[in-house]
Amino acid sequence: MTSILPVAGVGTPEHRAFVTLPHVARAGDPLWAPRSTEVADWAFEADHTLMRAFVAVDGGAPVARAAAFTAGEGLGTVGLFECLPGRGEVGRAVLEECVAHLRSRGVRRIEAPRSDPLTVGLQVGGFDLPQTLLTTHDPPFHLDVMLAAGFRVVRRMVAPLMTRAAAPRLRFPPPPPGITIRPVDPTRLEAEVAALGHLHGAVFAGAPGLVDHDRRRLVRRLLPYLDPDMVVVAEHAGTAVGSLLCFPDAWQAGHVDRARILSIGVLPGWERRGLGLAMGSRLMNVLLDKGYQSVEGVWVREENAAPQALARAFGATPGRRFALLERSP
Ligand SMILES: CC(C)(COP(=O)(O)OP(=O)(O)OC[C@H]1O[C@@H](n2cnc3c(N)ncnc32)[C@H](O)[C@@H]1OP(=O)(O)O)[C@@H](O)C(=O)NCCC(=O)NCCS
Repeated sequence: MTSILPVAGVGTPEHRAFVTLPHVARAGDPLWAPRSTEVADWAFEADHTLMRAFVAVDGGAPVARAAAFTAGEGLGTVGLFECLPGRGEVGRAVLEECVAHLRSRGVRRIEAPRSDPLTVGLQVGGFDLPQTLLTTHDPPFHLDVMLAAGFRVVRRMVAPLMTRAAAPRLRFPPPPPGITIRPVDPTRLEAEVAALGHLHGAVFAGAPGLVDHDRRRLVRRLLPYLDPDMVVVAEHAGTAVGSLLCFPDAWQAGHVDRARILSIGVLPGWERRGLGLAMGSRLMNVLLDKGYQSVEGVWVREENAAPQALARAFGATPGRRFALLERSP
């Protein structure tokens, strides 16, 4: 018999079932990154009053799971979805438990999948490509289960993929006059983080979820993976006007030769002056010198032309595809 159980806390049998499920569901999938289970650990570390996790258990073994998050301002999200193949009906029931919980919390809109500000989106394409740092990785049937649970796709994203083999052998122009392109300075991390946080706030104004508290946690989470050479800052008169955040793919098993770009942006008013090209050229040279074989770009909305056009200058092709879904409570 299948029962759907709330996870009361870390260390309970339900929590063990919740965190074990990906290892069962993804066993034998070489594209899955076992280290991605840190996303669930991270969620359980957060304010537990904002999260409610459910796991479906059959004969003592987990078969499906999901968690509901109350994100504030009437928004609820559902993430950490996992389901065994062939058990879509149980997966759907677990998603509906999450929706019922969010309804009881009075949310007006539900987004999925989203378990934290970085781990967003359901993979809907590029299934032959590996999961990379802080991304989701889903088998194709997950979309069917989410649609059956009443969610609909509201946004489609694509992650450009750049490889060593396709890297162009052209020399990029120097940065525009007055602009310095430099790596982040690890000896002044606090000031650098503050400047980049400020820049991000201006570039991605209105991006959901990135409140100060989340940002501080994100920084703490990313710092262990930082290679300062791979975080590029564009500066004008001592002020950061652009940034390109790239990290080694710390989720890759064994020798790390993949990287992932977490974000790229220039301040409003600074677009189309060659800053993106200059920051990208710096990064590409660093990655090629350090022996990286590929870098996955941050996923961008399919209709967001600028970053995709910029990535094409570096030989990018469309890589993995993701979707954001919504439903009303
Ligand atoms: C993406 C972004 C960083 C590009 O930076 P940029 O400094 O404006 O880019 P560049 O001036 O170096 O442009 C390089 C090339 O990219 C292409 N490109 C840049 N912006 C473009 C646009 N709006 N439309 C079409 N092509 C564009 C062009 O080929 C351009 O060369 P050209 O100007 O000689 O034609 C910038 O548009 C931005 O900050 N966007 C908002 C943030 C964002 O969406 N980031 C991605 C998700 S994290």
